[in-house]
Amino acid sequence: MIVLGIETSCDECSVALVEDGRKILSNEIATQIELHKPWYGVVPEIASRLHVQWIDGVREKALADAGLSLSDVDSVAVTARPGLMGSLMVGLSYGKGLAWSLGIPMVGVNHVKAHLYAPHLEYDIEYPYLGVIVSGGHTMICRVDGFDEMEVLGTTVDDACGEAFDKVAKFYDLGYPGGVAIDKLAQSGDDRAFNFPIPNLHKGGHEYDVSYSGLKTAVINQLEQFRAEGAEASVENIAASFQKRAIDMLMKKIKLAVKNTGLTRIVAGGGVSANSRFRKCLSELHGTEAFFPSLSLCGDNGAMIAGLGYHYLERGDRSPLNESTRARIKGYRNI
Ligand code: KG4
Ligand code: ZN
Repeated sequence: MIVLGIETSCDECSVALVEDGRKILSNEIATQIELHKPWYGVVPEIASRLHVQWIDGVREKALADAGLSLSDVDSVAVTARPGLMGSLMVGLSYGKGLAWSLGIPMVGVNHVKAHLYAPHLEYDIEYPYLGVIVSGGHTMICRVDGFDEMEVLGTTVDDACGEAFDKVAKFYDLGYPGGVAIDKLAQSGDDRAFNFPIPNLHKGGHEYDVSYSGLKTAVINQLEQFRAEGAEASVENIAASFQKRAIDMLMKKIKLAVKNTGLTRIVAGGGVSANSRFRKCLSELHGTEAFFPSLSLCGDNGAMIAGLGYHYLERGDRSPLNESTRARIKGYRNI
């Protein structure tokens, strides 16, 4: 089954063709990064307008890259939730129109679950495992028993991990996207230069939760201190010290989850799973086996949508033409 996957939940406009949920025939990703750079973040209105302009060209390029035509496509999978409402609506409406005109099935896919599916495109991974989703919008540690069976063990109580990277980078003017800039600067910084605090949330059954807001504020306050002292901020040291704390916090919760659940397979996904420190720490976690997506599949892409969509389509799931988008998944611990 050849599935055409569409991803437009944020600022990447992506269309991919994937065979049998596994073989990537093409994965065209048109990024809007340069166009959002002046605002240090994604401007929703701009994002949806660009998706409207780009989507058909991206679809055409994806088919050409795969050496296929529309008549070769068996089904359509498209991100329907969560994400920026306007952006989601472009992809879902386009997917519906495409499936309807070709007379083929369409299924709406959850973007967060798809991030965790990304490593399955490249590796044979058995269930159950501990899933770690770290992106600009989500930070979750889950028990995963199947492609659609996930129990959220821990999540962030405030900012997402990637969001904290982006906000720190914005205040220090380090570049955009913040995570990429901080990861690069941290390579030549001293991670012991600043001892930023990390919280320990464990009360009331929230032992796997994380909180990035306090760490982010402490790092930003340090900038105020630099200014008050007339000192120049050592951005490499700031980046290294912040990154160490941000990843340490996550690793602490992962270690606890491994200990308590007995799960020794760990699968990571989402934009922050490209972080070099995270990849190193998780790969070196004693007694566990870690799977990451390749760097090109960590961020938003159509291949993960087509890949996960295949499994829903194969079991007979179909989305009706009145399928709706959802910006958020209701409930703090729901996925
Ligand atoms: O998964 P993604 O592309 O979009 C969302 O679904 O949010 O993730 C984007 C996030 C951004 O916050 C970006 O700064 C972060 O992933 N990111 C990184 C790295 N590369 C991207 N964070 C830390 N280190 C990186 N190397
Ligand atoms: Zn994402």
